Amino acid sequence: MDFLSRFYSSSIGRKFFVAGAGLSLCGFLILHLSGNLLIFKGPGAFNHFAKTLDSNPLILPAELILAGFFLLHIVIALIVRYHNYQARPIGYARYSVKGGRTWGSRTMTATALIVLAFLVIHLKDFRFGNRSEGVYQLVVSCLKNLYYAVFYILAMLSLSLHLSHGFQSAFQTFGLNHPKYTPAIKALGYLFALVIGLGFASIPLWIMMGWIK
Ligand code: HEM
Repeated sequence: MDFLSRFYSSSIGRKFFVAGAGLSLCGFLILHLSGNLLIFKGPGAFNHFAKTLDSNPLILPAELILAGFFLLHIVIALIVRYHNYQARPIGYARYSVKGGRTWGSRTMTATALIVLAFLVIHLKDFRFGNRSEGVYQLVVSCLKNLYYAVFYILAMLSLSLHLSHGFQSAFQTFGLNHPKYTPAIKALGYLFALVIGLGFASIPLWIMMGWIK
């Protein structure tokens, strides 16, 4: 415990927490997307999957751990941002960061806030919504609303941008910064962001087009 609190007190220690929780959340995104894609197989497969998950006694502890990772990632990232803001040079011309900044890195806070707002609405409607007719029917009836579907697609675009920087940044925090491996990690980060963004966005898009009824 003493080690953890001393580790947390350092700036690099806090970044480790953000990166570790962020990469764990990437793992959750892969699992969640894989489950969600069952919606293309129809109500039977999707509802059966949701029921199997819900009846697993390990689901509650898993949800609590997941909520902990989300909280850790968001709260400590905000603390890191605050410390960086306080340490910023005042009265000097702004300098550009070595290597240039990407769209993903420039919009990290904005995309984080959009994904957070999405998450609150998402959990309220899907996790704690009325599932009496089945989770498939709940998802389709919500996403049939054009505004709701467009909001989901924009949120997925924000998530994709967030991941396009966050993924590679986490590896840099862990010290994996090497001319040989960095380009491969960057490319993997972009691919991951694209697959996750397009994968999740395909669901509201298909429902909006009336291809999933
Ligand atoms: C089109 C995109 C998405 C759809 C259709 C979708 C669908 C769902 C559904 C149906 C549930 C309830 C599952 C259940 O309790 O049986 C759920 C839970 C959840 N979703 Fe999503 N989701 C989407 C995107 C996302 C994204 C991008 C994130 C994270 C940024 C996310 C995070 C969560 C979380 C944290 C839960 C609660 C997990 C749990 O309690 O088991 N979802 N989602």
